[in-house]
Amino acid sequence: MTRTLGWLQRALRHEFAAARQFALQASIARRLGDPKLAAQCDEGAREELRHAGLLADAILAAGAMPADGALAVLPTGRTRDELLDEACRTESAAVLLYRDALRATPSRSASRDLFEFLQREEAEHLALLQRMRRIAA
Ligand SMILES: [Fe+2]
Ligand SMILES: [Fe+2]
Repeated sequence: MTRTLGWLQRALRHEFAAARQFALQASIARRLGDPKLAAQCDEGAREELRHAGLLADAILAAGAMPADGALAVLPTGRTRDELLDEACRTESAAVLLYRDALRATPSRSASRDLFEFLQREEAEHLALLQRMRRIAA
């Protein structure tokens, strides 16, 4: 469990860092006059906060405290393409993080179900952003 707990805490830090990044990107997108991208970034920030909540619930259920610790400061970018590139990088990192977490987590555990669920959602986020990246503003 301790090993799994470490992955839960690490994932929690990632989700908060991503939520912060996407919230800032929403403001930058509004400033760029791109309300569609801003709405997508806002939605992304909400999604990552929801993920953080699920991870915090799991950590508390395991009898530990969600210790989010120092968050990585993920770059935002300044242009539409840069915003999307940075967001794609974050979602790719999340997919890999959950892949590694799953490798370290015993089968048939609640944490495994959660990591699988989150990995699926991050893969969907990534696919959506990649589509937006291909489409001109
Ligand atoms: Fe997430
Ligand atoms: Fe995501």
